[in-house]
Amino acid sequence: MSLALEVKNVHKSYDGDAQPVEVLRGVSLELDRGEAMAITGPSGSGKSTLLHLIGTLDQPSAGTISIEGKNPFDLSEPELARFRNRTVGFVFQDHHLLPQYSVLENVLLPTLAFPDQRQGKEERARELLEAVSLQHRLTHRPAELSGGERQRASVARALINGPSLLLCDEPTGSLDHQNAAAVADLLFKLHGQEKTVLIVVTHSLELAGRFQRRFDLREGRCSEA
Ligand SMILES: Nc1ncnc2c1ncn2[C@@H]1O[C@H](COP(=O)(O)OP(=O)(O)OP(=O)(O)O)[C@@H](O)[C@H]1O
Ligand SMILES: [Mg+2]
Repeated sequence: MSLALEVKNVHKSYDGDAQPVEVLRGVSLELDRGEAMAITGPSGSGKSTLLHLIGTLDQPSAGTISIEGKNPFDLSEPELARFRNRTVGFVFQDHHLLPQYSVLENVLLPTLAFPDQRQGKEERARELLEAVSLQHRLTHRPAELSGGERQRASVARALINGPSLLLCDEPTGSLDHQNAAAVADLLFKLHGQEKTVLIVVTHSLELAGRFQRRFDLREGRCSEA
C-alpha cells in the first residue's frame, strides 16, 4: 500500500522584489496512515508554506508531493478542487468560520460545493458537533461562541468530508492554556477515531511534545527530532 503522504525534496520560492525568496530548500518527509506529526520552527521558517503545499493549496517550485500514492498536481483544476475537498481538512489559527452562518451551517459548508457528496452529511455534522461538545450550540453564530468553542467548531468542519489528511496551522495559538489543551485533546481523540494523518504546526513545545513524530523546520530544511 502506498504511503498516506510522501513529500520528496520539495523546494518553494516566492518572487521577491530583487530576487526570489527561497523558503523551502529540499524538504522530505513520509507519513503513514494513522500517524501524527508536529511541525515546529521559527517564525518565517516556512511552516505555513509547507502546510499549504501538503494541502494542495499551492504547488512546489520543485520536488514532489504524493497523497495516497497520487500526485495531486497531475489533476486538472476542477479535479484538484474536488480532491482537496474530500481529502484535506484544514484548521487555522483563526477559525475562519463565516459570521453570518450558524455553527451547524458552518460545519456543512464544505459539503455544499459538491452536491453528490451531501448525502447523510447533516447527521454527520451533528455527530461531529457532539464529539466536540457543541451539540447545544448548533444554531449559534460564531460571534456568540468562546474562542475555544469556535476552534472546536472549525475542527468539526475540517472533518465533515472524512479527510485522510487533517492539517492544522497553529490551531491553539489564539487560545488560553485550558482551551488550548481541550482543543489538542480533541484533535488527538478525533485523529484516533477517524484514522486520519494529523499534522499540526505549533509554536507550543508542550503541544509538540505530545506527538509521536516531530519535525523542526529551519533554514528551509526539515529535521526529525
Ligand atoms: N505569498 C508569498 N509571497 C512572498 N513571500 C511569501 C509568501 N508567503 C510567505 N512568504 C514568505 O515565506 C516565508 C515563510 O512564510 P511562512 O508563512 O511559511 O512562515 P511560518 O513558518 O508559517 O511563520 P509563522 O510562524 O510566523 O506563521 C516568510 O519569509 C514569508 O515572508
Ligand atoms: Mg505560519
